[in-house]
Amino acid sequence: MTECKEIVVSESGGVLEVSIQRPDRKNALTHAMYTAINKAFDRAEADPLIRALLITGTQECFTAGNDMVDFLQNPPLGEDAPVMILLAKLAVFPKPLIAAVNGPAVGVGTTLLLHCDLVYVGESARLQMPFTSLGLCPEAGSSYLLPLLIGHQRAAELLMLGETIDADRACQLGIANARLSDDEYFPHARQQAARIAAQPAAAVRLTKQLMRAPFDERLRSHMAIEGDAFAKRLVSPEAREAMQAFMQKRKPDFSQFD
Ligand code: COA
Repeated sequence: MTECKEIVVSESGGVLEVSIQRPDRKNALTHAMYTAINKAFDRAEADPLIRALLITGTQECFTAGNDMVDFLQNPPLGEDAPVMILLAKLAVFPKPLIAAVNGPAVGVGTTLLLHCDLVYVGESARLQMPFTSLGLCPEAGSSYLLPLLIGHQRAAELLMLGETIDADRACQLGIANARLSDDEYFPHARQQAARIAAQPAAAVRLTKQLMRAPFDERLRSHMAIEGDAFAKRLVSPEAREAMQAFMQKRKPDFSQFD
């Protein structure tokens, strides 16, 4: 059980379900929520009876990414920050990771999908990585994984322009496995998680390890470089202006910065 009421964790048939439930803030992730998610990942990894982890949000929203107030007040600058711990875990999580996504999936809401084995999206899913618009740079290894998955130019549209993609486009690009209706995406993801949990566990883990081995080391070393760059951008005047502007519901003014 977790003490953070915005992260609801439950277990069923060998699958640990982690659900982000902070609808009034579009499921934006705070330090406390990251800490609760990290605990769930640790539990899933340590417990041999848990064969897969399914992460989801609400039907209206997967997550609006990092909580801007948290980011402004308490920027996660070190490796020991709960968000950085989660990103490191995602890159090495040894069991199948499944995501069920609908509504906005912003920032880490999209980059975490690049670490999942199976991703199912509802028809209202909208994926976006607006890092540059926020004065930031990509995170969670996305500056490495996304060009690898979809090619440099298509990744540039998503990472440099922060373009939003819908459920069909996410499937075309290979970020998601399938698009289902808003009512069906979650039951389907659950069913697929149960199917994978019923497979021989050691064979599944080995398969995941082998699929990731060719780029694992490179991903981790790139994430260290990317993480340092992200921490520096987070305290940059542009990023602070962008985040303050979002909270104050106004357009950011970058004209004063070089
Ligand atoms: N951090 C903190 N608060 C957030 C938030 C975030 N990342 N995302 C949304 N919220 C808050 C809004 O400020 C708003 O608060 P209010 O009710 O006090 O005005 C509330 O959640 C609802 O958000 P709103 O923007 O009105 O909902 P929407 O349906 O019009 O848009 C999003 C949803 C997710 C598209 C939009 O909220 C958004 O773009 N959020 C920022 C995403 C982002 O840039 N994340 C950081 C990536 S590093």
